[in-house]
Amino acid sequence: MPRVVFLGPPGAGKGTQAKSLAKDLGIPHLSTGDLLREAVREKTSLGEEADVYIRAGRLVPDALVLRILKERLARPDAQPGALFDGYPRNLAQARELTGFAPVDRVISFVIPEPILLERLTQRWNCPKCGTLYNLATRPPKQTGVCDLDGTTLVQRSDDRIDAVRMRLLVYAEQTAPLLEHYRMLGILTPIDATGTPEQVGHRIRTALEHAP
Ligand code: AP5
Ligand code: MG
Repeated sequence: MPRVVFLGPPGAGKGTQAKSLAKDLGIPHLSTGDLLREAVREKTSLGEEADVYIRAGRLVPDALVLRILKERLARPDAQPGALFDGYPRNLAQARELTGFAPVDRVISFVIPEPILLERLTQRWNCPKCGTLYNLATRPPKQTGVCDLDGTTLVQRSDDRIDAVRMRLLVYAEQTAPLLEHYRMLGILTPIDATGTPEQVGHRIRTALEHAP
């Protein structure tokens, strides 16, 4: 299964699942959100431009995202395949991706909105190793500190409630139409993204094993 896309609303658990599945499949986890946030931290010119959109919960312009994605995809570890998390986000990006890296399977995360709001507002992450925590469902052992490396945990700039609402709106308007696009191509597999991370992970692995 060389190229898999995770499609789903903000807070659906794409990053949580992608980290472990990519490791199991031996392919890189390619998150455009993570790549953009790294550029913001490093204060590159692309990062400074993207930061304004990210904070507002809007999509970063396609050309900027494409540039950062192509750079990452060109690295040798991405040659056997990749797990795309957060790309594509609109029809133009989907068509672009078909041109340079055709997708084999799209897993869509199905989850009710109230759960998303709860997951996002309680999320904290480790800026060093990327481990995701949730104060309600997966708290760190010691408050505010990463279990793995002791780094002080941070919250994302776009997890404020106004940015979260904008991200949900952008998802409904621009990203949700991709469900029909991939369904028509016969490569869409919806999975129930409620329940524990272990339950969701099991559903995804079963879906991939049984995919045609
Ligand atoms: P991006 O980083 O892609 O964010 P997103 O799609 O909004 O999704 P999230 O990362 O918020 O959620 P997730 O589904 O990964 O959930 P997670 O596993 O963290 O994009 C951010 C921004 O970058 C965009 O708004 C845009 O500005 C820009 N951008 C990125 N890609 C772009 C593109 N292609 N084009 C244009 N702009 C782009 O889980 C959430 C929380 O829930 C965590 O606390 C976790 O611990 C917890 N959790 C996870 N699973 C479970 C579970 N099963 N049960 C209980 N809790 C759980
Ligand atoms: Mg994510």
